This record gives sequence, C-alpha cells and structure tokens, in this order.
Amino acid sequence: MDSFLIKGGVPLHGEVEISGAKNAVLPIMAATLLTNEPCVIRRVPNLSDVRFMAQILEWLGAKVKVDGDTVHVHAKKIKGHADYDLVRKMRGSICIMGPLLGRLNKATVSLPGGCVIGARPINLHLKAFEALGAKIRIESGYVEASAKRLVGGPMFLGGRAGSTVLGTANAMMAAVLANGVTTIESAACEPEVVDVANFLIAMGAKIQGAGGPTVTITGVKALHGAEHNVIPDRIEAATFAIAAAMTNGQITIKGARADHLHAVIDKLQEAGVVVDHRGSDMIVRRGTKLKPSDVTTLPYPGFPTDVQAQMMALMTMSPGISIITERIFESRFMHVSELTRLGADIQIEGPSAIVKGGKPLSGAPVMASDLRASAALVIAGLAAKGTTQVNRVYHLDRGYEQMDVKLRKLGARIQRIEES
Ligand code: EPZ
Repeated sequence: MDSFLIKGGVPLHGEVEISGAKNAVLPIMAATLLTNEPCVIRRVPNLSDVRFMAQILEWLGAKVKVDGDTVHVHAKKIKGHADYDLVRKMRGSICIMGPLLGRLNKATVSLPGGCVIGARPINLHLKAFEALGAKIRIESGYVEASAKRLVGGPMFLGGRAGSTVLGTANAMMAAVLANGVTTIESAACEPEVVDVANFLIAMGAKIQGAGGPTVTITGVKALHGAEHNVIPDRIEAATFAIAAAMTNGQITIKGARADHLHAVIDKLQEAGVVVDHRGSDMIVRRGTKLKPSDVTTLPYPGFPTDVQAQMMALMTMSPGISIITERIFESRFMHVSELTRLGADIQIEGPSAIVKGGKPLSGAPVMASDLRASAALVIAGLAAKGTTQVNRVYHLDRGYEQMDVKLRKLGARIQRIEES
C-alpha cells in the first residue's frame, strides 16, 4: 500500500487547477444508464472511484471508453443486477439503483453496508422508490426494487441528519421516466445534485427546482444521449485553501466555484484566512494570525461534512479553543487520534471535538482511514515540523486526483512511496 512522505514547514505558493467533482461525476455516470444512446462526460477526474464506477457500468453491459478527462458511455443494452463484489467496494455505487429502476422497472443491488464514517443506511432511497410504486424486497444481502410501471408521486426525503445527497439523485433518476409528476420534498440542495439534474435535463428530462428543497420531475417517454461538463470539486478546492492557510503560504485556486463555497469561505475568514477573488480564481493566504472558530457540519448550504476533518487540522494551529461538531455522520472523527499523534490537543465530547489550538505540530507516521481524514493528515503533515509519513494513501486516491503532484507543484516536499 502506497504512502506519502512529507517534509513539513514549506509555505505553499503558486497555482492549482481544481478537478471535476467526484460526488457529481459518480451519479452522472450512473445516469447514463437511463438512455440507449451514447453520452459524453467531460472534466472527469482520474480517481479510483471513477474507474470503479466505469467497471460497474461495463459489468452492467454498457460500453465505456475513458479518454483523458472525458468518459464516453453507451448503455445500449443493460442488465439490472449488480452483485456484492461490485457494490461493497464503493458505497457510492448505490446510485446505480435509481437509473436501473427507471430504465428497466427493476433493479437488484447488493446492500452497500457501512463504512468507517457511519452506518450509511439507504432507507430514504428505498422510500423514494416505493413512493414511485416500486415493491422493495430485501433478501440475502440484496435489495430488489421492481414495478410494473413507475408512477410519479409525492415523497419526503428528510432523514435524521437532513436530506440525502445520493438518495435525492436516485429519486430523480428513478422518476424521470415514470408516468406523471413526482415532487421531492426535503430534497438535498448540494451543487452535485444540481449537476446531476442538469445532466438529466440535457438528456431530455423535465426537472424543476433542483438546488432547492422541493424538486418537481415530470416523467417523459425516453431520454436521449447528452454531453456534460462536470462542475469543479468544491471539497478539493476547500482542501487546498486550508493547506495554503496552514503552511502560511499563498496560492491561486483556478477553476473553483466560489459560489459553492460560501460556508467554507465564511469560516476560513472567521479563522483569520484571507480569501480574495480575481475573476474565477480564488487567492488564499493566511492573514496576520489564525483565530479559533466553531464549526458545525450541516446539509448544503451549511458547512460541508467533507471539509470537517481539514478544518479541524487548521484549528489545531489556531491559538485558543475551537469546537467542531459533526451533525451529518455518526463517527467521522477518525482523524482525531492521528492528529493527536502529530501533537494536536483534541478531546472528543459526543458529536463535538474540542480543539485546543496553537501548539506547533510535529511530524510522525500516521494512518489514513477515510478519504477526508487522510486529506486532513496530509495537510497537517505539510504544516508540521519534521517528517510525516501518511500510510494507506489509497484512501486519498479515491477522491483526490494526483494530490501529491499538485502539492509538489505548489512547493511541498511530498513524495509517494510505492509499496509493492
Ligand atoms: C454523499 O454521500 C457524498 N458521497 C459524501 O461524500 C458526503 O459526505 C455526503 O453526501 C453528505 O454530504 C457521494 O456523493 C458519493 P447522504 P451520501 O445520503 O449521499 C443519512 C466524500 O468524502 N441517511 O447525504 O451517501 C446518512 O446516514 C463522501 O466524498 C439516512 O439516514 O450521504 C447520513 O447521516 C463521504 N438514510 C446523512 O443521511 C438514507 O437513506 C447524509 O447522508 C440515506 C442517508
């Protein structure tokens, strides 16, 4: 398993280009299953999760060609069954269920199971399918949704932690070919959901209100092929912005959408980070001094849970007490024990982490656990004195395109140690 070897203490300087958003491209790739015509998706990041989704589509019968950052998918004839071996490796693959049900009126997918950050239930996804008239059957680890004909109808997708991002995407993808009008109340408002809706509309779907809490879908007979440019990855942009602040550097983030980052920019500015805009570029640097800041993760447009770990890393450097509360996932503090190995002072109290910041970090070997926790360890290593080895960076490769290469271009002393 590869690891990153980081010699900290170098302020980052220069420009970084943000890749396409992982959490948009995965459901958009799944949406290509809804038509028997060819689709082209551009600005696709080169990630292991994307390569895996391509394998799933091929396994289902689609023709997939990856050409640089462009993916061609032609799902002429497909089957509606995805087995455990396929789905278990990536929870996000549950988003094939909506399009399979929408296209074939039947979908059988292995129950995805949980992951390190939480149980990851799919009850809201299944509630959406039932609201469209599907019968749900769970047997020997598989969930099957089937219907003679899907019929549009009302549904409420609010759960214990707000709405569901992939659940909303699945509901839209199942509803676009249903008979009649579907209204999703308490729909997820994330930009990635809007991007999926825009791709479906380009395919001929009739969708209104995406990005807001009420989304209306009027079913159509069929969808045609389409081309689409994926939105930039706001989580990657936030990660690099925090890395610049932690290393006391100054970087220009190119191709990010600042309008997708209001909550993050607000909290960074509160923490003493300077964020300027020049056209579509964001220029980020640390101000005179870092300040503590309290953060609670919420559904969009609130502070994103996918930036919680990275923000905690920054707060370990801000003199004073910061309280980070995780309201979306039940166990998303895997990074805390590893950050304390770098000298951070963090106490977990239920859903909150109390960070006593200000003591300089010092390098040590640490273990990556989930995608965003790993990112937090890398940026902490960049700021720490001495050497940090982040092990199991395959977690990072799932969601960050060439993170080491991009960081080296910004002056970081980071190298990938490939282990056979
Ligand atoms: C998406 O996961 C993202 N993944 C996650 O990013 C992100 O953290 C999450 O949305 C929240 O923003 C992809 O898009 C591939 P949810 P998703 O359904 O859709 C509960 C990353 O690091 N819930 O919005 O699976 C659930 O337990 C990943 O890039 C139910 O209770 O998340 C959680 O507490 C990690 N029942 C909350 O809702 C359901 O049926 C939000 O989950 C579904 C979800």
